[in-house]
Amino acid sequence: MAYPTQTAAMEDLDTFDVQRIREDFPILHQKVYGKPLVYLDNGATTQKPSVVIDTIADFYRQRNSNIHRGVHYLSDQATTAFEDARKTVRRFINAPHERQIIFTRGTTESINLVAFSFGERFVNAGDEILVSEMEHHSNIVPWQMLCERRGAKLRVIPFDDKGELVWEKFEELLNPRVKMVAITFVSNSLGTVNPIARIVEKAHAVGAAVLVDAAQAVQHKVVDVQALDCDFLAFSGHKVYASTGIGVLYGKEKWLERMPPYQGGGDMIKSVSFEKTVFNELPFKFEAGTVDYVAAISLGTAIDYLEGIGLERVEAYEDQLLRYATERITSLGDLRLFGQAREKAGSVSFLFDGIHHYDTGLMVDKMGVALRTGTHCTEPVMQHFGVTGTVRASFALYNTFEEIDILVEALARVKRMF
Ligand code: ALA
Repeated sequence: MAYPTQTAAMEDLDTFDVQRIREDFPILHQKVYGKPLVYLDNGATTQKPSVVIDTIADFYRQRNSNIHRGVHYLSDQATTAFEDARKTVRRFINAPHERQIIFTRGTTESINLVAFSFGERFVNAGDEILVSEMEHHSNIVPWQMLCERRGAKLRVIPFDDKGELVWEKFEELLNPRVKMVAITFVSNSLGTVNPIARIVEKAHAVGAAVLVDAAQAVQHKVVDVQALDCDFLAFSGHKVYASTGIGVLYGKEKWLERMPPYQGGGDMIKSVSFEKTVFNELPFKFEAGTVDYVAAISLGTAIDYLEGIGLERVEAYEDQLLRYATERITSLGDLRLFGQAREKAGSVSFLFDGIHHYDTGLMVDKMGVALRTGTHCTEPVMQHFGVTGTVRASFALYNTFEEIDILVEALARVKRMF
């Protein structure tokens, strides 16, 4: 595959003003260990634009009050801002209705909610749940717990050495006992973009529902739940330029209506007596207690910000960054690249021969470059390749080609020192 040069890439995207965008992110303009910060750990969390930081600060300064509870002015303001954020999320993923947008603490809680509530209602002894070998632990462990609880079986769709799902194995595993296929859209440790719409079509043909872990997808590409036809989709606010503490679960109403609540408490009820509790309607049935409404509001702002730049343009720009980084890192030699799927997004993972991933990470850190090292919460991926961890550079819309040059120079120094 031919990678474009830095200049050609910039010509293609000459309207994408990354330096202007960087002005929006105050944290990027600092030095660490006397070196300009090069932040390439965006798969773990993204940095926040001023507009998001200001939304949070202004909200606490001027409008804070609990949502859905008070009759007073501030509570009304807070409730409106929170429900507006829900509308923004609905539009962002093209869900048919706001009722289908449930705020959670993050992707992990969204998946646990489905594993519990869908599992209680629809999964029985002898049923099967399919996950893939490239899932994050948060899309494995909740399903293992469900299988343990309900006497169901967890089956695994393998990936090949390029990091692509083995399609024939997936087809072989499908049968009417499969109740759920839980699959990542974009792998956090391989960068693989999975063919979700095709997976959904196949799964639906045997009557299985599909949950999509979009934690590493929504910040990199347009995600349309109606086009995908998925049954559930989960993502986290903090990976899409919003605050920590907020996540989203989208679900089809035909499931959500029939699923029992995940947690009990305030706001998820219509009425309570010691004899009988009547649960609230969607989406509130799944939002027990005080949601981190300020974080939800920050998510609305972050989405507006991202859409203002244009997700298609972000995707095109990041694609060039990823190709450039892959080419330059590979050219250093004496390394293994993990994840060479035809369609990739977000990150590049690698390991230098004979150099521990932690050593690489620690040494480039001293040169101002923030990478992630270790298993990336995907131990089965590491087991597949027989390694204890990898080094991962993951990208965001504010990263530059110059930063990749700095990364490559830092990696070259690591190699020289070993
Ligand atoms: N799941 C996050 C990552 O991939 C934390 O880094």
